[in-house]
Amino acid sequence: MEDLISLIRKRRTIRQFQPAEVPLDILFKLTDLGRLAPSASNLQPLEFLVVTEKELRKQVFSCLRWAAYINPAGDPKPEQEPTAYIIILVNTQIRTKGFEYDIGAAAENIILGGLSAGLGCCWLISVDRDRLQPVLKVPETLKIDSVIALGYPAEQPVAEEYSGSVKYWKDETGCLHVPKRSLKDVSHLNFYGQKFPDSLKV
Ligand SMILES: Cc1cc2nc3c(=O)[nH]c(=O)nc-3n(C[C@H](O)[C@H](O)[C@H](O)COP(=O)(O)O)c2cc1C
Repeated sequence: MEDLISLIRKRRTIRQFQPAEVPLDILFKLTDLGRLAPSASNLQPLEFLVVTEKELRKQVFSCLRWAAYINPAGDPKPEQEPTAYIIILVNTQIRTKGFEYDIGAAAENIILGGLSAGLGCCWLISVDRDRLQPVLKVPETLKIDSVIALGYPAEQPVAEEYSGSVKYWKDETGCLHVPKRSLKDVSHLNFYGQKFPDSLKV
């Protein structure tokens, strides 16, 4: 298993997938990683709905919107659609607001856990929740927050140094390039604007 730091560095959002199915035991483990994430006041309002069934997958897919900056070039191609989904649900009988931090922590656990098992993921909030809720028979007391699409990756996006725009792009070979702000720009030492020594390397 790869160490955590290299997984974090190598993680990119994946939107093109191989046709191979994700074994159910891996998906089950990923829901456990979501369950174990930190939770404000330890209220644990989140639940995780795994979708593997082919016809249902098609319906989930139709409720999602991909890669808005390059639409439709970022959509999964036919035959390269996700082979599983984990729907993140909020139990509104436990919390009605303030659950977003819990979701971030749980989603990243799932995404990194997936990566360690060789999976690629796209976490989506562009979801037609009203249409998806009845399809998946989610009771009204639970709210669909977001969807993690999963599968074995069929693309290798690369991080690029930010140069004035956060918009990712595809080159002529179809490779996705994702600008990231520089470490120098986003890190500060002791006082805002004071920088780490240039001699330090990550
Ligand atoms: C909260 C959240 C919501 C996102 N929603 C979508 C989405 O609806 N559709 C999509 O294609 N990507 C979505 N993404 C993926 C982002 O576009 C992606 O993280 C960003 O472009 C940076 O790329 P990277 O994940 O490879 O670093 C979302 C990411 C986050 C964190």
